[in-house]
Amino acid sequence: MVARILIGADHAGFELKEKLKSFLMEQSWSVIDVGTHEEASCDYPDIAHDLCNRLLNGDAQMGILICGTGLGMSIAANRHAGIRAALCTSEFHARMGRAHNDANVLVFGGRVTGFEAAMYILRVWLETEFEGGRHSRRVQRIETL
Ligand code: RB5
Repeated sequence: MVARILIGADHAGFELKEKLKSFLMEQSWSVIDVGTHEEASCDYPDIAHDLCNRLLNGDAQMGILICGTGLGMSIAANRHAGIRAALCTSEFHARMGRAHNDANVLVFGGRVTGFEAAMYILRVWLETEFEGGRHSRRVQRIETL
């Protein structure tokens, strides 16, 4: 069970971050918000790198990153060894991202996915365990390449 979750967004993901944060806190999740804390324009790589470093340091077990499309955050986060960031636009992505890829960062596009859909995707993400087995070998291969 995930105890703590990190969340971060740039200005384009700020609104969705605030809504998802409230949703998670209502469900009694412990949430660490790494910013941005305002709607002013900022640079998504700074947020992505900060969240990934904290996740790799063990501050939390999972992370959520949001930018406008979800692409910039995905690209930046996946530069970190040990981070497996998955841009999810459907519950199927969320289920497979956890079950097969053991993804530890869920990425949304704030200009792509609305709050209602994001909430369902997030719920599936949190409920789905990594299946292990043959998928463990494949995930390990990512780290060794
Ligand atoms: C910001 O305008 C936008 O470029 C950013 O949020 C993100 O979508 C980049 O990938």
